[in-house]
Amino acid sequence: MLSWRHKPIVLRDLRTGDAPRLAKLHANAFHRGWGEDEFERLIASASSLGEGAAFSERGSLLGFILSRIAANEAEILSIVVDPTSRRRGIARALLSNHLDRLRERAARELFLEVDEENTGALAFYENFDLKPVGRRQAYYPRVSGGRGTALILRRALD
Ligand SMILES: CC(C)(COP(=O)(O)OP(=O)(O)OC[C@H]1O[C@@H](n2cnc3c(N)ncnc32)[C@H](O)[C@@H]1OP(=O)(O)O)[C@@H](O)C(=O)NCCC(=O)NCCS
Repeated sequence: MLSWRHKPIVLRDLRTGDAPRLAKLHANAFHRGWGEDEFERLIASASSLGEGAAFSERGSLLGFILSRIAANEAEILSIVVDPTSRRRGIARALLSNHLDRLRERAARELFLEVDEENTGALAFYENFDLKPVGRRQAYYPRVSGGRGTALILRRALD
């Protein structure tokens, strides 16, 4: 079991009441955050799958992962760990568990989009054999103006 400072980390399903915390975690990580309404809608959707990580079942979320499944394809919409909790293996635990959950839902392929300048996330995904299969030019709005390129990563879920 994953633990940090001798406290076990619990993974649990996301619930609609998590929306405010998810919006905050997301806004801390990305220039353009998603609103609480967006998270509530996504969590309530039958095609979504998401888990959070915390020190206890009722504890404040340290990070989360959220995907959407259509037919046998899944797309990671977001994975975020609070900046104060990074490099402790929390995202690794979230994604490892999530891959199993996606397989249980009969997903055969996994996709996601990531900013090509997000070197930390790219290093993270490489560990999970997620490989670039395409690019979307002028995709992510930059704080400084202009737009950055998104890489599309893919892996099979055998
Ligand atoms: C990407 C992110 C989710 C990783 O979360 P994390 O909990 O810190 O990741 P982990 O501790 O599980 O890292 C597992 C491994 O991934 C790699 N990794 C993770 N973050 C990395 C970084 N910033 N630089 C280089 N490698 C990194 C390392 O191999 C790491 O293992 P190690 O710590 O033993 O070297 C986190 O940095 C984050 O929330 N970033 C902002 C949001 C984001 O960019 N999400 C992905 C966008 S699609």
